[in-house]
Amino acid sequence: MIVVTGANGQLGRLVIEELLQRTAAENIVAAVRNPEAAGELAELGVQIRQADYDQPDTLTNAFAGAEKILLISSSAVGQRVAQHQAVISAAEEAGVQLLAYTSILHCDRSPLQLAEEHQQTEALLNASSVPTVILRNGWYTENYTMSIPVMLEMKQMFGCAGEGRFATASRRDYATAAAVALTTDNQAGKVYELAGDNSFSLAEFAALLSQESGTRVNYQNLSEADFTQGLIQAGLPEGFAALLANAESGAAEGWLFYGSKQLQALIGRPTTPVEDTVQAALS
Ligand SMILES: NC(=O)c1ccc[n+]([C@@H]2O[C@H](COP(=O)([O-])OP(=O)(O)OC[C@H]3O[C@@H](n4cnc5c(N)ncnc54)[C@H](OP(=O)(O)O)[C@@H]3O)[C@@H](O)[C@H]2O)c1
Repeated sequence: MIVVTGANGQLGRLVIEELLQRTAAENIVAAVRNPEAAGELAELGVQIRQADYDQPDTLTNAFAGAEKILLISSSAVGQRVAQHQAVISAAEEAGVQLLAYTSILHCDRSPLQLAEEHQQTEALLNASSVPTVILRNGWYTENYTMSIPVMLEMKQMFGCAGEGRFATASRRDYATAAAVALTTDNQAGKVYELAGDNSFSLAEFAALLSQESGTRVNYQNLSEADFTQGLIQAGLPEGFAALLANAESGAAEGWLFYGSKQLQALIGRPTTPVEDTVQAALS
């Protein structure tokens, strides 16, 4: 039995879909914080169990009988190490054969502030007795396509990544990678650096969006401090705005780029071109 935590999130739902292409629904448990919100997943025939990272008892119940678990990193930035520790402890207790974890690209060396909780989680995984596979995910292309309506309205794209290149892939690509790792033998001990086959600078993204939408969008590069302020003015909480701006500055130094096509190799097909994800967002 394979248990996927955070299964109600955007990545989690896609992982469940990808698992269903590789194993029967009866082998899959969608572990969610709020089972009442999991109606669509239940319709797919998978079992729904409650698993709240902040309530260890729910984790023990959710992992009963599990052979493999995917820990989808929590979205509660700042609280993630304790939450992930609770999942690792419950997985240890359940005696699982494999615990997969969605980490961040170049986690062991990355200076991005966002990487810190992933580094601590990877250390906890290393110290645990559970066999693990680490999926170091790069940026989702959707991190940018989600803002397309605003970019088109303002005819501007703001950032602070300079000429930095983003080797993004679609959420679906990373979900496929997780499903493959969970349904393939001999994954224990592996660490995958996962990123898109191709990359873009933010100016190139703006040019692509202009071409695909017919609306001219210019990329404006700001300082990290000014970009942080812009994100705060756009409604992001201060701490999260600073983390995102810090990640873009890191991208300027190459930390969101990776040229060895490990994601393509793992999923057995090219990663989704950014053009496709932009077109899907526009349609
Ligand atoms: N690589 C990237 O570019 C990138 C971008 C954004 C995020 N991420 C990371 O990747 C993860 C998955 O991405 P996503 O797009 O699926 O994010 P998402 O849609 O925000 O999903 C996050 C999931 O975490 C769950 N969660 C939060 N707190 C929890 C708790 N206490 N107990 C159990 N579950 C909890 C949420 O549960 P509910 O459904 O109940 O809210 C949700 O299902 C994120 O959580 C984040 O760590 C990566």
